Amino acid sequence: MRTPLVAANWKMNGSKTFAERFFSDLNLEALASEVVVCPPFPYLSLVAQGVEDKSALSLGAQNLSQESSGAFTGEVSADMLLDWNVRYVIVGHSERRSLYAETSELVAKKYVAAQEAGLIPILCVGESLEEREQERTLDVIAAQLKAVSDIIEGDAWKHSVVAYEPVWAIGTGKTATPEEAQSVHRFIRAELGEAGAEVQILYGGSVKSANASALFAQADIDGALVGGASLDAKEFAAICRAAG
Ligand code: G3P
Repeated sequence: MRTPLVAANWKMNGSKTFAERFFSDLNLEALASEVVVCPPFPYLSLVAQGVEDKSALSLGAQNLSQESSGAFTGEVSADMLLDWNVRYVIVGHSERRSLYAETSELVAKKYVAAQEAGLIPILCVGESLEEREQERTLDVIAAQLKAVSDIIEGDAWKHSVVAYEPVWAIGTGKTATPEEAQSVHRFIRAELGEAGAEVQILYGGSVKSANASALFAQADIDGALVGGASLDAKEFAAICRAAG
């Protein structure tokens, strides 16, 4: 049985004051779901304090280096994240793939670096609008998954999360329908092989409290990776409650 998981991706948003106040507004009564908050790096210590105070929460990061240490200016290593009790780390977000030229091969190395350090990678996959219109969605996602499966043992998938984020739904208000998302999630689960049954597969792309329940009702949608809506603590809490 997979535990529902809802993760907040603040992206490059927030402030010291926002991070300090976020948890005072986040009334998370006893939830069956796991809740992860992924702030920008400078606020990890502030959010870590809020996470400690709320047992239902885990701390996440939005990226990491594939390197363990050294002359990599501006980078952040897995061990540095562990110093702040980070448990999850997003890898291969479409914004890092498109804006910072992260290839699927580099994403795979980040995935492995995270797992080798004991972090749980949240691997993001998804197609662009052009790829969707060309009916290449499954081919694109299969290639993104293959870059990882080519360098890991099959069981490793069990120690990770996968997030399906159709790029055309990110920040646009155009959410995939529950049925569309379910169809892709079922494909992803099959691509993961024997490990697939245990892997939490999240949906990301304009998730709101208004559409969360219909998405989570789908058999292979185990939660959400939430961007914009996670910057409103009450809205984010409503999405977490919808996950159960
Ligand atoms: O990582 C989650 C993010 O890409 C989704 O963004 O604003 O569409 O919820 P948003």
